[in-house]
Amino acid sequence: MLKKLAIALLTVCTLGITNTQGQKNKTFHPKEVWNDTEGNPINAHGGGILYHKGTYYWYGEYKVGRTILPADATWERYRTDVTGVSCYSSKDLLNWKFEGVALKAITEDSESDIHPTQVLERPKVIYNKKTGKFVMWMHIDSPDYSKAEAGVAIADAPTGPFTYLTGFRPNNCMSRDQTLFVDDDGTAYQFSSSEENQTMHINRLTEDYTQTDGTYVRRFIGMAREAPAVFKHGKKYYMLSSGCTGWDPNSAQIAVADSIMGEWTVLGDPCTGPDAEKTFYGQSTHVIPIQGKKNAYIACFDMWKKKDLQDSRYIWLPMIPNKQTDGFTIPWHEEWNLNIFKKK
Ligand code: DGJ
Repeated sequence: MLKKLAIALLTVCTLGITNTQGQKNKTFHPKEVWNDTEGNPINAHGGGILYHKGTYYWYGEYKVGRTILPADATWERYRTDVTGVSCYSSKDLLNWKFEGVALKAITEDSESDIHPTQVLERPKVIYNKKTGKFVMWMHIDSPDYSKAEAGVAIADAPTGPFTYLTGFRPNNCMSRDQTLFVDDDGTAYQFSSSEENQTMHINRLTEDYTQTDGTYVRRFIGMAREAPAVFKHGKKYYMLSSGCTGWDPNSAQIAVADSIMGEWTVLGDPCTGPDAEKTFYGQSTHVIPIQGKKNAYIACFDMWKKKDLQDSRYIWLPMIPNKQTDGFTIPWHEEWNLNIFKKK
């Protein structure tokens, strides 16, 4: 009898949960509030997506609390305190489950790189097949952005907890906006806006992905590219990036290369449609190759709200290969879903 009651109660509770949270997202709505499976706005800014064993993981800046402009600021360096890096998981890229704060701010050590008073931006996670570790790189900085370093953390599981290892200037050079890319041969690279954000450095990582190995190249020299998102399509490498205008939007740019540390050719602005010249008011952060679909990519942008950073939104749009130019177009869509890509 008791057992039956327990089963009935469980069923009611489960159904209740399904009914209140059962509205699944069926389409992408760029710029609108995007709720997770618990009905809370997704909070993962400047993020990156890792695909691992059938699941996508979205890591991003967990921005909580008031946005302030520090009293001594000489430029619009609006900030929220560092809370950590959030992690969400999804099978379909539309419905995301909050997995918690995978890397937490270190509150007890005021000298820590990831103390709430500091800056933590653009976390990206890659998986190292040799060590079995998940490795996170992020931009860490002082509140006035003079430190310009990369921070590294590792975990045994994609959802963390991540342990913060260290922060440093890769190859002793400044590193601000950054991303990671793992090539087919397992070699990983960090792309980072260096030299006062004027030149992109492509830093090769050590086999365990936790350091740079001393080999790097300077590319996009003096071109002031930020917000790099790197992916491979066929045999070519692509970098989507933004210009350098603080939290304000500017034009996106896509570039192509035959080899990752070789010469890069700028192809131009891939965005089309209303406000394309301002990247639809977004800034690039990642490009997702869609598993199981050929030539199908999602360009992920942040739409920053500089005076209320935690309410910053996301602009995810399809990226369509353009055979004529060797490049891609990113057309504006108010609402869309993955059916836009032809089946494999
Ligand atoms: C632009 C960068 O892309 C962001 O990550 C952030 O660092 C802002 N600048 C700060 O103004």
